[in-house]
Amino acid sequence: MLRQLAAPALIAGLALAGSGVAAATGEVHQEIHDYQFSFEGPFGSYDQAQLQRGLQIYTQVCSGCHGLKFVPLRSLGDESGPGYSDAEVRAYAEQNFEVFDPELDDYRPARPTDNFPEVDAVGAPDLSLMAKARAGFHGPYGTGINQLVKGMGGAEYIASLLNGYTGEQMEQAGTILYENTAFPGGWISMAPPLYGEDVSYAEGQPEPTLEQEAQDVAAFLMWTAEPKMMARKQAGFAGVLFLTVLSVLLYLTNKRIWAPIKKKG
Ligand code: HEC
Repeated sequence: MLRQLAAPALIAGLALAGSGVAAATGEVHQEIHDYQFSFEGPFGSYDQAQLQRGLQIYTQVCSGCHGLKFVPLRSLGDESGPGYSDAEVRAYAEQNFEVFDPELDDYRPARPTDNFPEVDAVGAPDLSLMAKARAGFHGPYGTGINQLVKGMGGAEYIASLLNGYTGEQMEQAGTILYENTAFPGGWISMAPPLYGEDVSYAEGQPEPTLEQEAQDVAAFLMWTAEPKMMARKQAGFAGVLFLTVLSVLLYLTNKRIWAPIKKKG
């Protein structure tokens, strides 16, 4: 009886689960490319030159619409980040941003002690934590297992998004939407911000092609979202090493303690 009931129930259950998955992912295929970033894997670390190029793209292209309000300007001097000198950070802050100072009741040039400004003029989301917020993107790669196995996460999503414009656009309720193969739903209200050759990189750096620029700014945004990634990996590695040694010692101790009793038996 039970067995007779079980089979149809199982089939019905599977069908339900299947339709749930189909409904969740819809018909849109999110295309997320598996880029190779220097910070992937247990020993990966940020590429300082790449972070500097990404900062340049952010400053010259994205900062008009997107803020980075959780990121302190002084962190641009971090060893494991872009690694600028104090004087460079001060000059960068002064030249590029103004912040409102309640004490002066006026705007003044930004200082290293300020954060990057908040921008909310055009409804563009703050990018400080975007690479973490989009780490578990949906779609064919979904689930987060890919993050573990392939090292795919928010940085891949952002680079794919910037590369994902098809050139198609449509108007909906007065807003222009641009077709994008990485964006959930397929249509995004952000016009393509990068085309390639949008900035000129310093001498000795790679050509600023669209692919290169997209990966550079994605790496930079991964760093803003997780500036301590390298310290975390090192601590994690030390932890695993310690636990491994401890396990071996405990195993040997255990053997030794029980040795006389085992011998008797
Ligand atoms: C002209 C203004 C503008 C510029 C310049 C711009 N963006 Fe956007 N961006 C937007 C708007 C508006 C949205 C919200 C789009 C939506 O949700 O449909 C957005 C959304 C995003 C998102 C979030 C997508 C998501 O999954 O929700 C990311 C990531 C992003 N932009 C990255 C960038 C980067 C990197 C640059 C610079 C290379 C940039 N943007 C330049 C206006 C802009």
